[in-house]
Amino acid sequence: MNNQIWIKKGDILKNIEVEKLVFWWKWFSILKHSNPAYNWRIIFITWWAIPWSIVDVKVIKKKNAFLETQIVNIIKKSPFEEQNKENIYWECGWCKWINIKYDKQLDIKQQQVIEALHNLEKYDENLIKKFQEIQASPIINWYRNKVEFSFWKYISKKDNIEQHFNVWFHKQWEFSKIQDFDWCILIDELQNKIYKKIKDFSKTLWLPVYDQFTQKWFFRHILIRRTYYTNEIMLLLSFNPDYFIDKTNLDKNEKLSKIKDFFIKLTKDFPEIKSIYFSYNVNKADTCIWDLELIYWKKQIKEELMWLSFNISPTSFFQTNSSWANKLYSLVLDFAKKDKLKDFTVLDLYWWTWTIWMIFAKSWAKKVISVEMVTSSSKDWESNAKLNKLTNIEFKNQKVEDFLKEYINKWEKADLLIIDPARAWMHPDALPNILKFKTNQIIYVSCNPATLSRDLEYILKNSNYKIEKIKAVDMFPHTHHIETIVSLIKE
Ligand SMILES: C[S@@+](CC[C@H](N)C(=O)[O-])C[C@H]1O[C@@H](n2cnc3c(N)ncnc32)[C@H](O)[C@@H]1O
Repeated sequence: MNNQIWIKKGDILKNIEVEKLVFWWKWFSILKHSNPAYNWRIIFITWWAIPWSIVDVKVIKKKNAFLETQIVNIIKKSPFEEQNKENIYWECGWCKWINIKYDKQLDIKQQQVIEALHNLEKYDENLIKKFQEIQASPIINWYRNKVEFSFWKYISKKDNIEQHFNVWFHKQWEFSKIQDFDWCILIDELQNKIYKKIKDFSKTLWLPVYDQFTQKWFFRHILIRRTYYTNEIMLLLSFNPDYFIDKTNLDKNEKLSKIKDFFIKLTKDFPEIKSIYFSYNVNKADTCIWDLELIYWKKQIKEELMWLSFNISPTSFFQTNSSWANKLYSLVLDFAKKDKLKDFTVLDLYWWTWTIWMIFAKSWAKKVISVEMVTSSSKDWESNAKLNKLTNIEFKNQKVEDFLKEYINKWEKADLLIIDPARAWMHPDALPNILKFKTNQIIYVSCNPATLSRDLEYILKNSNYKIEKIKAVDMFPHTHHIETIVSLIKE
């Protein structure tokens, strides 16, 4: 003990081996000590690190249980580092894991789910046998079907920065800054090319971009949505039409018709563009959809997933990686014990994009009831139900916990429960009521292993459901996001 080195803020710790990445909202790694004299076991780093690299770190915070540090020097690169990638990719935060080889990304994700479930009281070695191998994404780049860029002015006298025309994503952890780049690896070539054309054209108009200090702007956002299987593109430009008030030297109509002409011409170069909207945005909130005007062709673009068609509007919610949504939903279908059931009712809790709901309704459920609290996500469901000739569906626009309280008696005989809650949690009132249903199977789809583990703990403790199988699916390569599907069946 006496030989231990007492560490303080500002100290540099040398030759530390990065042991693993820890699933968390912030970019943390646990670093292994190569020097046993350090009196701290757990060291996190708040910035980029790759497992098995050897680094020097600087202590930036000292807490009771751990140190927070930042890398100051990379001594030895990790064998898992993907070479020849420029650092810009993770500056804006979208593809933080781009520098890790994809196989290793999958390995890390699988381990994170296993470790989260390790916390279960009823964890035993048999559970590990129920883990199926993580499902890799068929495409690891260019998979995002929706992207939103912000126009932003950034002036900092302190740092001597004057950026009058930026457009891209907000820098991670520094929302007021925009990384101004021309090319993103997570969207496809077509989206990148269209984005660049719009950006270059916008610059030529000499109209101001959003200024957070003066709260004045003309240009605000560019939204590009693309369907994967049908290759249709929707564009949206958000701007402030009131900018021209009191600007006697500027002709509003002339500028707007110039913009319109540009967009119409763009459809000649890119015939995939099927829909263009203007969003008249006079609001300070950083949201791109306000007063919409359709200026070109289709109100909605059409995607096809499994045996269903989906009409997608600017406001629609839709899985971001369409190429892989198919797999996720097929797995949910495969996990369902459909052979044991006939004419059965599915309860789909937390609905969002109506996809799971429609897939079950179209395949073999007699009836599917879905519950979702956000009204905007439910906007297109009726037209989509019609498009797919579905009549065996019911939608409840309310909170799951309230729905369960009201309907527990009425729907006690629901035959299959599908739960797909948001990252944060399931309301504590919801779980006990879920267990009151007499269903033989619950399929839990989770985007957060930590809350999955907490909810499973409750279910396993308070019912005779047992975990039948578990599979992680990588929907979002180069990010820390993991989807996990768990099948629980009654013994
Ligand atoms: C992970 S998403 C569901 C994804 C969907 N099943 C799919 O396949 O696309 C979670 C959804 O739960 C909704 N939600 C969150 N808390 C809720 C609550 N208390 N009651 C109802 N819906 C809720 C969110 O609005 C979000 O749409």
